[in-house]
Amino acid sequence: MAYQIVNARIVNEGAIHGGSLSVDDGRILGIDVPPPPGAEVIDAAGSYLLPGLIDDQVHFREPGFEHKATIETESRAAVSGGITSYMEMPNTNPQTATAEAMADKHARAAARSMANYSFFFGATNDNLEEIKRIDPALACGVKVFMGSSTGNMLVDDETVLEGIFSSTPLVIATHCEHTPTLKINEAAARERFGDAIPFSQHPIIRSVEVCYRSSSLAVELARRHGARLHVLHLTTARELELFDRGPVAGKRITAEACVHHLFFDDTAYATHGSHVVCNPAIKTTADRAAIWEAVRDDRIDVIATDHAPHTLEEKAGPYGSAPAGLPLVQHSLLSLFEHVAAGRFTMEQLVQKTSHAPATLFGIRDRGYLRPGYWADLVLLDPSSPTPADAPLHAKCGWSPFAGMRFSSQVRMTWVNGELRYQDGRFLPGSGGRRLEFDR
Ligand code: DOR
Repeated sequence: MAYQIVNARIVNEGAIHGGSLSVDDGRILGIDVPPPPGAEVIDAAGSYLLPGLIDDQVHFREPGFEHKATIETESRAAVSGGITSYMEMPNTNPQTATAEAMADKHARAAARSMANYSFFFGATNDNLEEIKRIDPALACGVKVFMGSSTGNMLVDDETVLEGIFSSTPLVIATHCEHTPTLKINEAAARERFGDAIPFSQHPIIRSVEVCYRSSSLAVELARRHGARLHVLHLTTARELELFDRGPVAGKRITAEACVHHLFFDDTAYATHGSHVVCNPAIKTTADRAAIWEAVRDDRIDVIATDHAPHTLEEKAGPYGSAPAGLPLVQHSLLSLFEHVAAGRFTMEQLVQKTSHAPATLFGIRDRGYLRPGYWADLVLLDPSSPTPADAPLHAKCGWSPFAGMRFSSQVRMTWVNGELRYQDGRFLPGSGGRRLEFDR
């Protein structure tokens, strides 16, 4: 199938260029090149045409927690939000901590994922030998929960951490929160508030110190062993001193920020309660401003979602029993565009952080850039048609932390591997996502 998208504002590799993009047989032919004879013409009418977003941190809950989400439902929500590839986390049931569990996830995604997919292999305190045997073609990286969060995957055995950082050639993606410190903080809050801890205590319990102790340890381990470290979801100004400015290519230590930490600050606990409770916690206005500065000066390389759906019933519990995490894939691009509109960063930087950088960081083959021969993973964003955040919601849990808001832009079309899978609120039939391949 051949087509040419004309009248587009093409955002790619640090520039915005008015022109056309041609696609044939799932792959990009080029920008401003003649389309093959008989190609369909699609008028972008001045909308932005971007490489589809590559989300390097999502929780799609399958297998084990299908009441919250499935690969099918969440990958559709992702495509409706302009995300064409994702990397999924191992805190499922069973945990993705064995070769069999990894193979099972691949089979599920091959059957039902609308977007392209890859999976993190999960570290535990006792699977070091399995980690050493991972087929690097099959895993995007190794996920290490160096802090307890949803799913009981805490790795706190120092010998195991040394073993992982000294042996794996894969990207080590870490969740950094120092669990002993957060337990002390939580006990202090229980002492003070009993069973009625206000949600506003979340960033005080999961504090700056909690984050810094763990992320500084991860960076120290990576430096000492020359490991390839990617610290996920930074939330504090203090941690930013651990990261270098500069282009993602060639860095051994990289960092990620997430859309909710860039959008909300701790004033949201009063209005949103558990609906903004996530780990690590959303922190102060000053922390958020510092994270933005680091996005702009390239200490933070990637922006992702940490899409982590839970049901409304689960979220209705009190502090401590309401699980942490927010559904975000549908609104990632739309919420980031609000920051472009507000002048916090540019459209070119948005594409760099959400598509180019994850492709380069993980060595994803033929994706993440609008280049001849690359897969046509594309999204058309209309900057002047608003989208209400509430309807319709595609994530299975059926709620959004952005409820009541209106985004100023709209995802009009999303193509996955050259196939138009989403257009103006409707999903279209097609062949489904492919496994991400890596050049390593
Ligand atoms: O808020 C979070 N939710 N942080 C995590 O690290 C895990 C995630 C989840 O799986 O719910």
